[in-house]
Amino acid sequence: MISTIKEALRSAATSRDGIRAAVEAIRAYNPLFHWTGVYLLEGSELVLAHEIGRPTPHVRIALDKGICGAAAREKATVVVDDVNADPRYLACSVHTRSEIVVPLLASDGRVLGEIDIDSDRPAAFTLDDRRALEAAAELLASFIESAESETTKAPPSSRDFHDSAGEAR
Ligand code: SME
Repeated sequence: MISTIKEALRSAATSRDGIRAAVEAIRAYNPLFHWTGVYLLEGSELVLAHEIGRPTPHVRIALDKGICGAAAREKATVVVDDVNADPRYLACSVHTRSEIVVPLLASDGRVLGEIDIDSDRPAAFTLDDRRALEAAAELLASFIESAESETTKAPPSSRDFHDSAGEAR
């Protein structure tokens, strides 16, 4: 998964393409990752950037809500073996039984977003999964951070070009 993500991020034309490719690689890593998505932090909300799986009603999540909000506030991975026993859980699907959320942290510690995975199997996430996802999060965070700084540094004409090309900000 890690080498696939590295390669995909190297060749991604836009940050949106990179995020999409990373979600695909993570989903392909484990058949138990039934819903795999990436949220990006916009102001005080996590906004769904790309996902594979059943449609979710939670396309925007406030930082004080859900397991997603908890991982962003704590800046740490949250693993929930039984979502129905966790009062923080925001339900996406009746089939979901366990969840892992891994924050995407910038080099200065800011939260850029997170990787969120739901499984239909209880306690689906192993320590190996967690380590692999944290490595993926590190790659994706540095990719998003450099895309972000390129957009900030770019002159207005170049920024206009990127916007019209539909690049995620
Ligand atoms: N279950 C999450 C909400 C997002 S869905 O899993 C896609 C939560 O409790 O924050």
